[in-house]
Amino acid sequence: MSLDFRNLTATAHALTAADRRAHYGHDGAVLWLTGLSASGKSSLAMALEQALTRLGYSCYVLDGDNIRSGLNANLGFSAEDRSENVRRVGEVAALFADAGLICITAFISPYSADRARARARCKQAFHEIHIAADLATCEARDPKGLYRKARLGEIDDFTGISAPYEAPEHAEYVVASGAEPFDESLEKLLAYVKAALPLGR
Ligand code: ADX
Repeated sequence: MSLDFRNLTATAHALTAADRRAHYGHDGAVLWLTGLSASGKSSLAMALEQALTRLGYSCYVLDGDNIRSGLNANLGFSAEDRSENVRRVGEVAALFADAGLICITAFISPYSADRARARARCKQAFHEIHIAADLATCEARDPKGLYRKARLGEIDDFTGISAPYEAPEHAEYVVASGAEPFDESLEKLLAYVKAALPLGR
């Protein structure tokens, strides 16, 4: 199948980014959480969504395990499938930001090039946030028993064991989720977001 974009014409929105900002009281943004399985991405994302909403922000979490049971149900864990997973999420997150909302994403997103593509798509709205618990910590936690299965060879291509994780080199913010209590990580992350995306119409 060859794709032909020549007969497509983009339709302009009648609403501007300023209109959306006035409506929601903040800029649209993407808070892109990346880190190993069990690093705390999903827990922090959900707690951040709740805390921001209570403060008056409009936001929504896209979470790896959730999106993989719907939009990305046809994708596995090969490098190619992870790239496509992250590409689609980058596109959806860019739409959320364009809509004026704060999109919090929680995907391992192990490849720097895939995260760079998501950043390029979301432009200045993109905040890369490294949830930086190291492999030993994540493996000791092992809440889903997946590291154990990966060590036993029951899961292929498992990030950190038999598939790579390319840590961000220039993240906008790093969460020391392996070295401090959860509540402290959340409080500091919330402070970062409030400073980066101030509320006010
Ligand atoms: S990503 O690499 O494509 O960004 P994603 O965040 O969507 O991964 O999904 C990761 C989740 O899928 C993990 O939290 C874990 O529950 C599950 N999972 C199942 N198989 C694997 C695997 N081989 N590697 C990593 N995570 C896996």
